[in-house]
Amino acid sequence: MTDFKRYLVTAALPYANGPIHIGHLAGCYLPADIYVRYQRARLRDIKFICGSDEHGVPIQIRAMREGTTPQAVVNKYHKLMGDTFRDMGISFDIYSRTSNPVHHQTASDFFKKMYDEGKFEEKESEQYYDEKANAFLADRYIVGTCPICGNENAYGDQCERCGSTLSPEQLINPRSTLSDAVPVKRKTKHWYLPLQNYEPWLKEWLLEGHKEWKNNVYGQCKSWIDNGLQPRAMTRDSNWGVKVPLPDTEGKVLYVWFDAPIGYISATKELTEQWADYWQQNDTKLVHFIGKDNIVFHCIIFPAMLKAHGDFVLPENVPANEFLNLEGEKVSTSRNWAVWVDEYMRDFPDQQDVLRYVLCANAPETKDNDFTWKDFLERNNSELVSIFGNFVNRAFVLMHKLCGGKVPPLHADVADKADQDLLAEFEATKTRVETLLEQYKFREALFEVIDLSRKGNKYMQDKEPWIVAKSLAENPEKQKLIDNCLHICLQLTANLAVMINPFLPFTAKKMLHMMKVVDKMLEWENAGKTKLLSVGYSLREPQLLFRKIEASEIEAQIEKLKANMVKPAATVDPAAKKAAKDAKYAAKAADKEATTEATATSTEETASPVKPEIVYDDFAKIDLKVGTIVAAEKVAKADKLLKLEVDLGFEKRTIVSGIALHFQPEAIVGQQVVVVTNLAPRKMRGIESNGMILMAEDKAGKLHFVNPNTKVDEGSGVS
Ligand code: 2FM
Ligand code: ZN
Repeated sequence: MTDFKRYLVTAALPYANGPIHIGHLAGCYLPADIYVRYQRARLRDIKFICGSDEHGVPIQIRAMREGTTPQAVVNKYHKLMGDTFRDMGISFDIYSRTSNPVHHQTASDFFKKMYDEGKFEEKESEQYYDEKANAFLADRYIVGTCPICGNENAYGDQCERCGSTLSPEQLINPRSTLSDAVPVKRKTKHWYLPLQNYEPWLKEWLLEGHKEWKNNVYGQCKSWIDNGLQPRAMTRDSNWGVKVPLPDTEGKVLYVWFDAPIGYISATKELTEQWADYWQQNDTKLVHFIGKDNIVFHCIIFPAMLKAHGDFVLPENVPANEFLNLEGEKVSTSRNWAVWVDEYMRDFPDQQDVLRYVLCANAPETKDNDFTWKDFLERNNSELVSIFGNFVNRAFVLMHKLCGGKVPPLHADVADKADQDLLAEFEATKTRVETLLEQYKFREALFEVIDLSRKGNKYMQDKEPWIVAKSLAENPEKQKLIDNCLHICLQLTANLAVMINPFLPFTAKKMLHMMKVVDKMLEWENAGKTKLLSVGYSLREPQLLFRKIEASEIEAQIEKLKANMVKPAATVDPAAKKAAKDAKYAAKAADKEATTEATATSTEETASPVKPEIVYDDFAKIDLKVGTIVAAEKVAKADKLLKLEVDLGFEKRTIVSGIALHFQPEAIVGQQVVVVTNLAPRKMRGIESNGMILMAEDKAGKLHFVNPNTKVDEGSGVS
């Protein structure tokens, strides 16, 4: 089916547990908005759906951290997120929320129909339970000592210090975060979607039927399906969420990844009485915009749910983006390594389009990409200001100066090849932009538009109407050449407004104002036309479309980023960090519900940029001394730990260190080291460690001792 009557575009419902950052925008909201604005300009019947995902463990965790209730958390962030999207020009037709009654009803009915038709398998399993708090525990609610790095506050699904993916069973001394009780296993009943039964259908519908999907999306789906699908529980033991609509299910709710995508349906219901046309007519084109961490849910689990339910259309495409990094590192909400969009708008008022531009020009469409403030400045100053803005500005200034402030005529008798070539580019560019947008290639489409303005600049430079004007006194006929140049430049400006509109809507608006034309001119069918502005029509004075950004402004942003960054607790075991990273990437995305904080930020790194500033007194509290390793041995059942005996001159200390993957114990006896001597003792694998030795880690992850370059007496101070 290619002849679609209506479009239904969804953007992932972000968890209402934190503000929106640039990774979210670049991941899905900006591309979705560009696509929708373009389709609206084509006058398609289209609805753009989004809202807050207000259920699930991420919300509960945030509430626990903020010492408040899940309801208070979602109320706060739902408003903030909605406002941010609106201010950035993300033009949802509705920004709803999954706590709305219509959503609870819709999700409940969806589940009940599947249940009544026998689409679930009912199974009992053993899960961790807190007997003091009388509650089953999601993995995130269990903490204990990380078996890899010794962090005593590792979560049941992940250690935030070394980054390892864990299961609660691996934690040493597990305890419940609700009450500190030791969790026990208890039987519980849940309803599973037997995904394996949908494998043949998924192969046909997705692997055979949607080979045109983006490689990153198709590849991930193929590997999931090829690896064999497993039954997946669609309910959870919790009090936060949509209640399971079955008798005797107190304390059970729908799995957040069951209810959230149904949120697209409920939001459409809230938006329009015609919701069923969009969701139930086969000539609807349903497109889900998401970040890559949501692929399996939107391409496999939700379609299987839709198929099982039977009443709804399936997605026609799921153009997921990869992740956007920041200054070379993963965006991390917990480390506050992010550019928060609401803050951006406070720091750069009225500069929404600059951010939209940079995020689209750098969009992680096929691979992870990097946002840097330097690139932000360069793209603004050398592309928006110097190319696009400069062209439009010159066209207007010269038209006022040389053509009396009116659109001059085009004189066919003196029109030359350069004129014809540029006019022909209008239509050619339009066709290319259109094709690219239909293929979800937003970066390339944007570059086409910028390139058209670049061609305009070159044309004007070659024609030099300001020079021609100097010879008007002796040859008044030359006014025709000036007219032609500015006529074409102004028609080109009008075309640029139409074509840039999906990407930079605030700029397009300013251009309309300058041209004294109404919104209707931005309809896509006007792109490519060479007579958009009537001859003799008087236009306004130019308004600067973009302003230069100063180096000091971005330096301030970089400073701010570094100053606000929260460092994780010191990494005791850098070797474990590497091993953990490998394990983490091997973990499947579907297992991450509990850990994900937001759409585009699931993988978090423990890298080490400069820490926030401290005063000398902070540093003076740390006691550093030189010691010599006098004995070293492996710690039983811990691949990465060595037990060291370190001579500090005044005493010998036992120190457990995570360096076993890097050094043989016998090879380091006699080695001098710098020791943090006043670190509180802690037990690792039953051995009390009294201090920490300093190590340097190079880019390749190799460890080196930090020590004086000549042998010094044990106990010498380091300062
Ligand atoms: O990753 C996330 O932020 C999820 N809240 C996305 C949900 S998308 C859809 F299913 F609603
Ligand atoms: Zn750890």
